[in-house]
Amino acid sequence: MQAEIGLIGLGTMGSNLALNIAEKGHDIAVFNRTTAKTGAFFEAAGALRSKIIPCTTLEEFVGAIRPPRPIILMINAGEPVDDQIEALKPLLSHDDILIDGGNANFHDTIRRNLLLDGTGLNFIGMGVSGGEVGARHGPSIMVGGAQASYKRVEQVLLDISAKYEGQACCAWLGENGAGHFVKTIHNGIEYADMQMIAEIYGIMRDGLGMQAKEMAPVFAGWNEGRLNSYLIEITAAVLDTEDAETGKPIVDIILDRAGQKGTGRWSAIEAQQLGIPATGIEAAVAARSLSARKDEREAAEKAYGALGETLKRDAGPLEDLELALLAGKIAAYAQGFAVMSGASGDYKWDLPLPEIARIWRAGCIIRSQFLSTIAEAFEGAEKESNLLLVPAFVEMMSEAQAGLRRVVARAATAGLPVPALSSALSYFDMYRQGRGTANLIQGQRDYFGAHSFERIDRPGAFHGPWAMNAG
Ligand code: 6PG
Repeated sequence: MQAEIGLIGLGTMGSNLALNIAEKGHDIAVFNRTTAKTGAFFEAAGALRSKIIPCTTLEEFVGAIRPPRPIILMINAGEPVDDQIEALKPLLSHDDILIDGGNANFHDTIRRNLLLDGTGLNFIGMGVSGGEVGARHGPSIMVGGAQASYKRVEQVLLDISAKYEGQACCAWLGENGAGHFVKTIHNGIEYADMQMIAEIYGIMRDGLGMQAKEMAPVFAGWNEGRLNSYLIEITAAVLDTEDAETGKPIVDIILDRAGQKGTGRWSAIEAQQLGIPATGIEAAVAARSLSARKDEREAAEKAYGALGETLKRDAGPLEDLELALLAGKIAAYAQGFAVMSGASGDYKWDLPLPEIARIWRAGCIIRSQFLSTIAEAFEGAEKESNLLLVPAFVEMMSEAQAGLRRVVARAATAGLPVPALSSALSYFDMYRQGRGTANLIQGQRDYFGAHSFERIDRPGAFHGPWAMNAG
């Protein structure tokens, strides 16, 4: 037999994706640099072995795939991808398609597209979300590259993707880096979502004195309402899990130092490059970096003393916490989609925002009910609109913002850090302030640098009477 598709890299994501492809009835050739891994993978594949061709050399691997050959690369992002492309190039033929399924920086994907331009080879950047379970049973798939190349692999990708009410969570989103860019923003939003949940957990633990076991049912309850989402669901599960060794809640023995592989940071950097505020993502990235500086934090706690007053469980703070999360989430998603909307123009991708919301409804880490509302909102709205201007969201935010305000105010008074929630509140407050304070900044700029300002009463560029005094 000749395989319909090939896959290189049998790590966790790669092997699960390969099994998913085989299970959906597609013959697949697989290759891994360490041959023993290929053998072990094949042995463990059980009944799916009949659909899998394990290969020990790249030559054998390429020969095992029916041309034009689609080859999925599930290897570490960065240099390994460039090395793999170079190793494959002499073995491939016209129209073959390289598909990078890793968490690549979309600038690399754009570069690789340009690099292969004119060689007859095609390059697809494919964002895959959903972790190992998603890869095995249905991820959300975000594709960028030439649409004709996507058509060649569309059926396989549709088959293996997650389904939301029967609709495949996979789509072609635009040329070159579009898929990896959208995956990056997905991860940026994931960072913001996770950080805001962690802040609410912090208020519960340090402000309300709740135990993990008490928190778990609160999150589980929220998961039945408007916050229904995978991340809230797993938060309840994590809080409810005991450490087998000590019998304590596992969350209490996990070190408070978060890792990060780069996608959150790339989102924040890109938002800054585009000049589009994404304060929730920025705050979440900074919070992870601050979490990593545990020694410094411990020294600072010694220097300044431990946290301030404990919050009292009065005036329904748990309901407020739910509202705060909802409001924070609205702001973070509004920002994430605004970044995508901005990039769409700058990179000429014409990103289909409602479609992106739709393919995030299942399979991916930020999957939630909420994304259906976003998809509907974008369908009915001007493409450029910030979600905060869409009527359905104006209604939700109007209701939830008071809760966010109370939570941020109480947390600030108690000395509990809420960087993402407070940034969401400030973003919202500033966004809806028709007359802001940048008039003063313009005055200062003109004073020290003669940068000029606009007036409210007539068009043109003006200087203040101070210009001659500036020194
Ligand atoms: C997903 C995840 C996935 C991975 C991230 C985690 O969508 O399936 O986002 O891509 O878990 O790489 O990123 P950090 O290590 O930066 O948290």
